[in-house]
Amino acid sequence: MGCLISDSWVVVVLFLPVLWVFYKVWMMMRRNEVERNGGGFAVPRGSWGWPLIGETLEFIACGYTSKPVSFMDKRKSLYGNVFRTHILGKAIVVSTDAEVNRMILQNHGNAFIPCYPKSITELLGKSSILQMNGSLHKRVHALIGVFLKSPQFKSRITRDIENVVRFSLSNWMNKSCQVYVQDETKKITFEILVRVLLSVGPGEEMNFLKREFEEFIKGLICLPIKLPGTRLYKSLKAKERLLKMVNKIIKERKNAMEKTEESGPPNDAIDVLLRDTGDSDEMQQHRLPLDFISGNIIEMMIPGEETVPTAMTLAVKFLVDNPVALAHLLDENMELKTRKDQTCEEYSWTDYMSLPFTQDVISETLRLANIINAVWRKALKDVKIKGYLIPKGWCVLASFSSIHMDEMNYENPYEFDPWRWKKVGAAISSNIFTPFGGGQRLCPGLELSRLEISIFLHHLVTTYRWAAEKDEIIYFPTVRMKRKLPITIMPLQQ
Ligand code: HEM
Repeated sequence: MGCLISDSWVVVVLFLPVLWVFYKVWMMMRRNEVERNGGGFAVPRGSWGWPLIGETLEFIACGYTSKPVSFMDKRKSLYGNVFRTHILGKAIVVSTDAEVNRMILQNHGNAFIPCYPKSITELLGKSSILQMNGSLHKRVHALIGVFLKSPQFKSRITRDIENVVRFSLSNWMNKSCQVYVQDETKKITFEILVRVLLSVGPGEEMNFLKREFEEFIKGLICLPIKLPGTRLYKSLKAKERLLKMVNKIIKERKNAMEKTEESGPPNDAIDVLLRDTGDSDEMQQHRLPLDFISGNIIEMMIPGEETVPTAMTLAVKFLVDNPVALAHLLDENMELKTRKDQTCEEYSWTDYMSLPFTQDVISETLRLANIINAVWRKALKDVKIKGYLIPKGWCVLASFSSIHMDEMNYENPYEFDPWRWKKVGAAISSNIFTPFGGGQRLCPGLELSRLEISIFLHHLVTTYRWAAEKDEIIYFPTVRMKRKLPITIMPLQQ
């Protein structure tokens, strides 16, 4: 008995200081809030939820429902479009206001930096495009953006995408006519991604990249503990192996470049980053270091790897559920195919991109799917936006899905209605449609993604009819299909 009492005392004595620290932090946050409520700018209203866990449980629970924005909607109705909360161990301002989101994305005065969970920052490294800031970020972002947008690149990559898509689709018939769209689209887009970034084609090198990259990204959302055997540790090891291989490719490329004077347009992201000399006259000194390039090549795979196949899969899902839209899409694409067959002309990237209904199907898929539902930033100083104060050090979540699913912006927002884009057309403000983000970090893969999805849809609908089994969309922690969207395919009778 005596021993029990003394044990309890030990626990109390050890635990009290921890409680005291949390209490102090809590009080400090509250004091900050009260003090800053001056000058016409106020910290947004909201609730801190439970001590320590804040409102994390409700946030995650909503993520598992078919309406993940319900967490935002509830607070929006209580506190307004911008509110504060405490989730995942952080004091956060959540914006569901299109104008505030635009200002956060524009980031004039460089007041915000990206803010990712600890496991992600560990895996990315400080010099990843996703984390870096300032002039180096501007330089790398512009280099990649200009390359991916250039007509020469789009024209060349169109051939590659067509080849990969046609080859994959032709293999589908060998798979007892049933395929899992989510798996198949992942294979297609990974092959394209590694071509775009490092010109690696099918074979041993690509299989190695795929295997190790999958191991690497498993650790993006995990406990941030870096001990042998932990998830994070295994992912970091996979990154080391990836870096070794990419380093080798880059060194070979650099040697080849030094031997030949001739340099045509860049073939891939490695060429782009290797050739750049910055703004300086002292050329050599301002080339990007090789380690920096290899790290960035791997890290640039992250935003492209899951997003495009998810968009393709969800487009198929929405079309399955909307036969009228599918019939319309088929008509439009059949017309293009017939024209091309008759003239024996090759397709150009502009052929795919100028199919208006197909583009509307893609926009509607991106709006409804909300593949990247928000971006996270951290305020480096006190920021005043539209009457609100975002205190220095706080995180800000600019929610895209709240804007995409708001009936003030889109009539019947939960309906898949590609025709809405014809009505709103160019009138739609870019503030209320941000699947690719905006401002300084607007996705450089925007046009490439649309091109990939267009080519995939074109060849899919003009090659096969399909029937899908029942499946549902999961939104947490990332958007995907619960059963990977199994479909049964039949060749299209012409
Ligand atoms: C449907 C497909 C895609 C979606 C929905 C998407 C969405 C986004 C979003 C929302 C951001 C902004 C992140 C932020 O502001 O913090 C972003 C950034 C980025 N995306 Fe994409 N993305 C897609 C495809 C791609 C592809 C195919 C690539 C690569 C080839 C790519 C490369 C990047 C890179 C490098 C960034 C970082 C830009 C920077 O921070 O400067 N994305 N993407």
